[in-house]
Amino acid sequence: MMYIIFGLIAYLLGSIPSALLVGKIGYNLDVREHGSGNLGATNTFRTLGVKAGLIVTIADILKGTLAAALPVLFATSAEPLIIGIFAVLGHTYPIFAKFKGGKAVATSGGVVLAVSPLLFAIMIFSFLIILKISKYVSLSSMITGIVAVISSVFLQHIGLIIITSVLTLFVIYRHWTNIKRIINKTEPKITWM
Ligand code: G3P
Repeated sequence: MMYIIFGLIAYLLGSIPSALLVGKIGYNLDVREHGSGNLGATNTFRTLGVKAGLIVTIADILKGTLAAALPVLFATSAEPLIIGIFAVLGHTYPIFAKFKGGKAVATSGGVVLAVSPLLFAIMIFSFLIILKISKYVSLSSMITGIVAVISSVFLQHIGLIIITSVLTLFVIYRHWTNIKRIINKTEPKITWM
């Protein structure tokens, strides 16, 4: 029962479409009609600039963190990482945005942050290094997922090994069109780094 209630709250939390809200309220613009059309932080940076992009990044991370923290906040024994997955599903298939959401990166990071700030810091570091080298946000997201799995093995945290593996496979699945664009050399590169 605990898992159903927390899972539902986490899904609804994850479903809050930060990119859509920031675009519509702050800029009177629907980010789904611009750039890649993705309801995520990257497309917000691309479409609305740094300020809006940072707000969406932080909001999307916090959705995952708050969802995974629910069992602790209510002093129950439910597994935070499992509850966090429901926030990632909400972010990706949001009930408040016709089930078409983001690509699971920031919210997955937020779930990790709730359980291991150290692993989250490793992920941020890895993401920035790969972004600096490759200039591809999508590639940096996917490789960071793989780095998270490997780091979880070193941290000897079985829960993180399982969840980062599942989330990384899901992130790669969600980036399928980006992978095709990288192969075709049509994936946009960032220019500011
Ligand atoms: O994590 C999302 C990012 O990697 C790709 O987003 O908008 O370029 O498809 P986008």
